[in-house]
Amino acid sequence: MTRIVAVAGKGGTGKTTIAGLLVRYLQASGRTPVLAVDADPDANLAGALGMTAEKTIGGAREDFFQSKGDIPAGIPKEAYLEVKLHEAVVEGKNVDLLVMGRPEGAGCYCYINNSLRKYLEVLAKNYPYVIIDNEAGLEHLSRRTTQDVDILLVVSDYSANGVRAAKRIGELADELHLRVGARYLIINGAPATLAPHFAEEVERAGIPVAGIVPVDELLPQYEREEKPLTALPDSSAAVQSIQHIAQKIF
Ligand SMILES: Nc1ncnc2c1ncn2[C@@H]1O[C@H](COP(=O)(O)OP(=O)(O)OP(=O)(O)O)[C@@H](O)[C@H]1O
Ligand SMILES: [Mg+2]
Repeated sequence: MTRIVAVAGKGGTGKTTIAGLLVRYLQASGRTPVLAVDADPDANLAGALGMTAEKTIGGAREDFFQSKGDIPAGIPKEAYLEVKLHEAVVEGKNVDLLVMGRPEGAGCYCYINNSLRKYLEVLAKNYPYVIIDNEAGLEHLSRRTTQDVDILLVVSDYSANGVRAAKRIGELADELHLRVGARYLIINGAPATLAPHFAEEVERAGIPVAGIVPVDELLPQYEREEKPLTALPDSSAAVQSIQHIAQKIF
């Protein structure tokens, strides 16, 4: 059975980092292959995983949309689109990557988006875990180009504002009628013991806390040196906290 995990949160709170670290955890614990989906138009999950995506789902959709008239004769358009979408899957070691890319431009994309959703549903079935790095606004989730999620992880930084934003994201998921199996808050960049005022805000948000990820200087260092998060040592504090979080949520 596939578990679909979506990572959401306000800009810069650590979504990509946490998505990357979850992929690292799944690789290390042999729960592979993992499908990593970068649903942020300013894609950087690929870099965090040390992978490069030449093509995106958005690009495949655009190609299809532009070339609608001249699909090779005898090929059903559904099959043609599927080939285009499949070309966007980057195969790596134990992890495949799919970059969603830019959202659609003007025009009617309903047919394409419906096909895309069906394709993603079928594709996801090949993987025990799918990790989706979302953009702050849940755009792809709201357009239903990504499907229902088993686990929604909302990331907050160590600020009362961050927690309030996390609460709103939870509410947005409800308003969009997304089917979410379980939802958790991850507090990123905070000490193990939370300040009382902050802890009260977390209490008010009413989302169960999956765990706290401490500040880990190796993370920005790896980013600066363009080293993938998957190469972090087991001794990294962030890696260790993600391990606890994963054991709790999976
Ligand atoms: N626990 C942490 N300790 C130290 N640095 C961190 C931690 N978590 C994230 N960072 C750093 O903070 C920056 C932002 O993280 P990240 O890119 O994961 O956030 P994001 O939510 O995906 O941002 P965006 O909304 O732009 O996609 C990165 O430089 C990352 O290395
Ligand atoms: Mg990001």
